[in-house]
Amino acid sequence: MLDELPIPLDRSAPEPLSVQVADALRAAATGGVLRVSDRLPSSRALAQRLGVSRAVVSTAYDQLHAEGWIAGRRGSGTYLRTAPAAAPPRTAPGAGAVPETGLLDLRPGAPCTDAVDPAAWRRAWRAAGDLPAAARKDRAGEPEFRVTVAEHLLRHRGLVAEPASVLATAGTSAAVAELAAALLRPGDTVAFEDPGYQRAVGAFRAAGVRVLPVPVDDDGLRVDLIPPGVRAVYCTPAHQFPLGARMPAARRVALIEYARAAGVFVIEDDYDGELRYDTAPLPLLAAMAPDVVVHLGTTSKILTTTLGVGWLVARPDITDAVLAHRADTGTGPSLSGQRVLSEFARHGDLARHLRRLRRVVPPRRALVVDALVARGLPVLGDDAGSHVVVQLPDAAAERTAVAAAHERGVLVNGLADNHLGEPHRFGVAIGYTAPSTAELATAVPIAADCLA
Ligand SMILES: Cc1ncc(COP(=O)(O)O)c(C=O)c1O
Repeated sequence: MLDELPIPLDRSAPEPLSVQVADALRAAATGGVLRVSDRLPSSRALAQRLGVSRAVVSTAYDQLHAEGWIAGRRGSGTYLRTAPAAAPPRTAPGAGAVPETGLLDLRPGAPCTDAVDPAAWRRAWRAAGDLPAAARKDRAGEPEFRVTVAEHLLRHRGLVAEPASVLATAGTSAAVAELAAALLRPGDTVAFEDPGYQRAVGAFRAAGVRVLPVPVDDDGLRVDLIPPGVRAVYCTPAHQFPLGARMPAARRVALIEYARAAGVFVIEDDYDGELRYDTAPLPLLAAMAPDVVVHLGTTSKILTTTLGVGWLVARPDITDAVLAHRADTGTGPSLSGQRVLSEFARHGDLARHLRRLRRVVPPRRALVVDALVARGLPVLGDDAGSHVVVQLPDAAAERTAVAAAHERGVLVNGLADNHLGEPHRFGVAIGYTAPSTAELATAVPIAADCLA
């Protein structure tokens, strides 16, 4: 049988014949055609059969020998020494988390990528590609990127931050994971908005940190209900996720006073703070109290979740701890995304893009809000960001609405998905940045029907 081993050779292919022979034998071993201890033809016999020189087969055998696939050589013959475990069967379509196709997706999370100017985007990637490959990674982020972020924060978030206090991150959730690993110990507790952003919960939990739910009201996190003994507090003051309220000044002051008195740090997740369509944003928590606030920003809401780029601004002992963690674990944000963002910002494309978002998104938001309000539905959330919430009376109404919308081909997110503890706020979140206006025009009336 081994004399008939399938070894197809393509003499016009760029790969040398010896590589093709080795590939075919490796494939025979991984595919189970060859088994451990099977003897291979001698190099002379195989060369003859394939019509190639003996050197071609010897080179292939030498390679497989060096890789540990075959053993035994001249004289005693060559046999297969290793066969890998069979690959697990592929998951059958329909099983597991197969993406749902053909449905109109109104779940919040994805940004308005159709507002990204393709020419500007291409320019940024080209310019980033023109930069020489860096020999080492700067674990704090590229100096150019840190200056870009400091400028962005000043212009768009009113925060005066020295580039030295800015670290590049791989996004908010990655930054939360780093803060948990660098500053907290397994078993430590953090206070977390409930409902809130479950990926950040997951990031804490992965580090062994216990996440304690703190209810939110119309002013955001209930500072008076933070349990004793926590080491940190996580919140989204510019636009509470998912309910959409902005934390007013008095609550901010209360939170900062609490943090100073208790000696804890506050993580300010400013995930979509650039997207405010009515009034100017309030000062960031980080601007009010850089001594206790770790500010996190991301490109996930303003550009694309796929760039994997964000930033962290904090006092020196915190940035040092994150850097030490990165050095210990050999981790750190990728350079390419930082370079793309720096280049996108360099000639004003980022600022133009943000202006464009503030022009393009409000009509989509209005389309959604108008359709919901016309059905008499209670819509929550400031004129900001990329989603709204329709409040429902109870868990059963929420489940029914989500299932009915799904049945009719529209995906919405139930607030149950955003709770840490027993759900106490009911409703669905509807995103309006990722779908086109035409998709919204089709999907929103269906969602409104199911909610009404
Ligand atoms: C509350 C909140 N924070 C942060 C993010 C973005 O996280 P990342 O930068 O990890 O993509 C999102 C995205 O949906 C979010 O909803």
